[in-house]
Amino acid sequence: MKTKIVTIGKADSPERISEKLVEAGRIIRQGGLVAFPTETVYGLGGDALNPASSRKIYAAKGRPGDNPLIVHIADIEHLQQLVCEIPVKAQKLAEAFWPGPLTMIYQKSALVPYQTTGGLDTVAVRMPVHSIARRFIQEAGGYVAAPSANLSGKPSPTSAKYVIQDMDGRIDMILSADGAEIGLESTIVDVTGEVPVILRPGYITQQMVSAVAGQTDMDVTIYDNSSTEAPRAPGMKYRHYAPRGELVIVEGELQDVVCYINEQAALHAARKERTGVIGTQETVAQYHASSVKNAGSRRDAGAVARQLYTILREFDDEDVAYIYSESFAGAFEDEGFGQAVMNRLLKAAGHKVVQV
Ligand code: TXA
Ligand code: MG
Repeated sequence: MKTKIVTIGKADSPERISEKLVEAGRIIRQGGLVAFPTETVYGLGGDALNPASSRKIYAAKGRPGDNPLIVHIADIEHLQQLVCEIPVKAQKLAEAFWPGPLTMIYQKSALVPYQTTGGLDTVAVRMPVHSIARRFIQEAGGYVAAPSANLSGKPSPTSAKYVIQDMDGRIDMILSADGAEIGLESTIVDVTGEVPVILRPGYITQQMVSAVAGQTDMDVTIYDNSSTEAPRAPGMKYRHYAPRGELVIVEGELQDVVCYINEQAALHAARKERTGVIGTQETVAQYHASSVKNAGSRRDAGAVARQLYTILREFDDEDVAYIYSESFAGAFEDEGFGQAVMNRLLKAAGHKVVQV
């Protein structure tokens, strides 16, 4: 399949932007797939109400069929068609955080095909704030199923370059534009029970959710890797966000961490193995390795979130075999969002943490 790559930029007139979005929307209505930017990561969109489109999404990503998709809407009125009921707490959360990086899980209506929900009776819905995403969803008919636009298992793409790397030849169109300012996927909250439960941490933190909806729980499997329970967001059980190189997180006093990572890099260098380091503004100058990346200030969760997936992808491009990252546990000023960053880093590392 030939993939059309369409860039929307500042040089485009409003009419030209409209034309491009109308064309993208038409592809979705006709059962095709279009990747598009959002404020979190790029999504791989198809018509959420068309079972054949959902099947195509799974095929393009190489994604297991039991891992449900998020339905993206641009208009709050469209929510009613998708769900059986809108619980009061969910209504409050929507008023507080939509449009934005929050996904909520509801009991699904008969309109939503099981192909979109991975066979579940619940449906995940999100209303993004990114303006191109919203206009695209409207042109597409209002209901766009979209997982992150990466091949299954790889880090979610935060730029069109990495969407093209994974999806060129597999989908009809890629919309390229500024976006992914947040850099990590949306927070997922299950609102089907009395107490909301966070199934995936993100920019909207537990504290922010509980300030609006009262007591809010965290799915135990998010941080406790030894838990024998299955995660309630099926996608959270899969190996994820993983670079090809073996990633290890190093935890301890910062000077000991730097020392340990330099030692390991020297050992690898002696064996002619390429090593990558995820360092920070405070430490990058102290590392000696094949490739040293600056993820931003150790205190700034937002900066690290924006950089993380790009850094992991760059290590793949550079054929790095071993990767060491400083741990950020306890370092970030914004602890809530920091938890989301550490959650993704731990998953990318397959929970391999060395204490020094
Ligand atoms: O920020 C985002 O959410 C991005 C952008 C494109 O919007 N999308 C995204 O989608 O991250 P995806 O498919 O990569 O992750 C969706 C997650 C998976 O872990 C999936 O298991 C979970 O949402 N999920 C979807 N529907 C669910 C449901 N009914 N119950 C529980 N978990 C669900
Ligand atoms: Mg994903």
